[in-house]
Order: sequence, then structure tokens, then C-alpha cells
Amino acid sequence: MPLVTSTEMFKKAYDGGYAVGAFNVNNMEILQAITEACREEHAPVILQVSKGARAYANHTYLVKLVEAAVIECPEIPIVLHLDHGPDFETCKSCIDGGFTSVMIDASSEPFAKNIEITRKVVEYAHDHGVVVEAELGTLAGVEDDVKVSAEDSSYTHPEEVEEFVSKTGCDSLAIAIGTSHGAYKFTAAQCTRNEKGVLVPPPLRFDVLEEVSRRLPGFPIVLHGSSSVPQEYVQMINAHGGKMPDAVGIPEEQLRKAATLSVCKINIDSDLRLTMTGTIRQFFDEHPDKFDPREYLKPARANIKELVRHKLVDVLGCNGKA
Ligand code: G3H
Ligand code: 13P
Ligand code: ZN
Repeated sequence: MPLVTSTEMFKKAYDGGYAVGAFNVNNMEILQAITEACREEHAPVILQVSKGARAYANHTYLVKLVEAAVIECPEIPIVLHLDHGPDFETCKSCIDGGFTSVMIDASSEPFAKNIEITRKVVEYAHDHGVVVEAELGTLAGVEDDVKVSAEDSSYTHPEEVEEFVSKTGCDSLAIAIGTSHGAYKFTAAQCTRNEKGVLVPPPLRFDVLEEVSRRLPGFPIVLHGSSSVPQEYVQMINAHGGKMPDAVGIPEEQLRKAATLSVCKINIDSDLRLTMTGTIRQFFDEHPDKFDPREYLKPARANIKELVRHKLVDVLGCNGKA
């Protein structure tokens, strides 16, 4: 089937108590790993491309790679989504350039300005059959070259969501309930330590999510910054020359719970990066004489595929839903 929008996907996810995985695509191996896992698990998928990905790999290469995945995986619905669109022009360029969904992220603007910018994108997108994700509240962490400190992040105010959604006409809403971008989601000071000395992050604010859902019944909610930062790969990186002390993510049971509620889209990028980096570091350590990129990208791709499969089955619950 051709690329789809997320409208039908989100309706089924909301009603079915699961979430669709939104995975960031930056190159062919990552794309293949994601879509092969989704095809084998019969899972719908959102392939998302950031401003940084477009700068790195070029818009046309990324769109053509995704078109190749659509041909190779005709049985699963695939959305091509702009992640963290910074302005109207970038959203327009993706809408004109074959994307079926865009995010306009004006969450750092004051409320009225966020509405104004989002509304403009929604009007253009809907005229072209494209859906729009918007954001209210500010996540901590790093996206593209923007770094938001934990002090400057803020939870979504539930009392603002009805006005925001009705005035903008957005199709889904990303909210801030304590998730964070990157591999260092929380400082050690924000966490407690369990009996094994492992950092335990503060729990997500399910009270905020539940109040948002009460005010927006049936409306799809999105969680960004939802990598769990698997310690297996952090340790693999550290055992093979890397230095990532105290990298910590969102516990998967909490994401699983969010997926059964109104959260229909869960964004995962850092976990793919950690898996690729850990696998390649280990490969180089074990095979210092090898220099063929196909030899080290192949196990990296295989491990990302298994990571994505685990997310589909054990975290998102979207396997078998395509
Ligand atoms: O939220 C940000 C995503 O992980 C994309 O990251 O801007 O480095 O491509 P990027
Ligand atoms: P992570 O950094 O937790 O993978 O979040 C990715 C994301 O939100 C992409 O928009
Ligand atoms: Zn994000």
C-alpha cells in the first residue's frame, strides 16, 4: 500500500489500547532494521525524519529510501513524518515533498504564538491531505542543536489543551509528562539508586496524562523522548572504549502503561543509536583488522532489528495490528 497518514492508525491504537512506534530514520541500515522488524511482526509504523536527518542525508535520499521500504513491505501501513519541524517553511517543504505527516514544534513559544504558528501549518497541511502533530509543554534534553535543561523544561498544563487543540485544529498532541530527549534523560540528582546502585528515574506524571485525556476524549497523545536507554548497550559501549556514565532512560513498564492509555505514538531514537554504536564498537574491538563497512553495519542492523521487535511486542503492543 502507498504511504498513509496516521489518522486511521491512531484511531485503531486508541481503541485497541496500544501505541504505534515512531522511529527516527537517518540512513539505510536503520530504515531496513525498523521496517523488517515491523513487517515480520505485522506492525504499523511511523518513520520520522528530523531537520538534522534532512541536513545529514538529504531530503530526497530519505524519501526515496522510505519509498523503497514501502515497496519491500507492501502489507504494513507506513507513515512518513517530519519530527520537530522548527517552522512553517520546513513543514511546507516536507508536505510538498511527499511526507504524509508533519510535526510543528513551537512549544518553546508563548501559548498564543504556538497556536498561531501551529494553525498556519495545519491549514496548509490539511489542504494537502497531510496531518499535523503539535506540542504543548517543554521536554528536557537535546533535539537537533537545541538543548533544554531540566530546569527550563515544564510539564504540559492540562487546562490549556482544549483551547490549543480547538484553535489549532492539530491532529495529535505531544505532551510533557517527564520524558526527555537523548541518552542522559535525568541527572543523578534527579534519580534515586536501587539496592544494586542503579539509577532509578522519577516516575512519569500519569496524573497529567490522565487529566489531558479526560479533557480530550478520543484524541491521540504523543510521547517524545521515550527511549529506555538499554543498559545492555550502554555497558557494551563502555566496555569497548566508550564513556557514557549514568546514561539513563524511561523504564519500559511506564511506556507500556502509557501505550494502554491515550498515548498512540511513542518516539524512539536514542535506543537505535546506542544499539548501533555499541555493536560497532564491539565489532572493531574484536576485529581490529576489518575495514569493510558492510561487515560492521550488518550486525548493527541485525541488533537494531531485534531491539525494534522487542519494542513492538513488549512495549508498544502494536505487533499483529497491521
Ligand atoms: O528528538 C530528536 C530526535 O532524537 C532527532 O534527533 O535532531 O539529532 O536528528 P536529531
Ligand atoms: P529519544 O531521545 O528518547 O529516543 O526521543 C526521540 C524523540 O523524541 C524524537 O522526536
Ligand atoms: Zn522528540
